[in-house]
Amino acid sequence: MANATGPDKLDEVRRAIEQLNSKTLSADQFMQGLVILLHEKMLKYNWVGFYMLEPHAQPPVLVLGHFQGAMTPHTRIHLNQGICGAAASSGKTVVVDDVSKDPRYLACSLETKSEIVVPIFVNGAVAGELDIDSHFPAAFGAEDRELVEYCARLVGKRLEAGRL
Ligand code: SME
Repeated sequence: MANATGPDKLDEVRRAIEQLNSKTLSADQFMQGLVILLHEKMLKYNWVGFYMLEPHAQPPVLVLGHFQGAMTPHTRIHLNQGICGAAASSGKTVVVDDVSKDPRYLACSLETKSEIVVPIFVNGAVAGELDIDSHFPAAFGAEDRELVEYCARLVGKRLEAGRL
């Protein structure tokens, strides 16, 4: 039997993402579908959500978008705050295996043990990010990173196409 988080499962999730991507959806509908899919199918992805940069805000601020999981107190995050701010300001994926050891971490749930945040690029600039929390330590390995970066690229392409 296939392992719940093994390669078979990841292949199945990738196919479901490709199927979602083949549909005629706005970027907003696509992001909504993605958070539902990832949260439901990836058993260690206990909170899945988007933070998008507010257009023209000075100083820049990330605003909570579609998400699945418990409501978070962090609905607006400045770029000098949190793991979310670090990923958006550096333009690089941030993986934290143990959030209790990372002084940047802004707590969303007491159950969260690890986190991945992947920036979304639109025309070469960071426009937002995909943030995933897990109740399990070190939940995000190389294959997870690849999967979440793939999702972020698909969202970036949709936003570039200009149909929010
Ligand atoms: N943990 C994030 C804040 C967002 S919540 O996880 C949903 C951070 O440190 O930026």
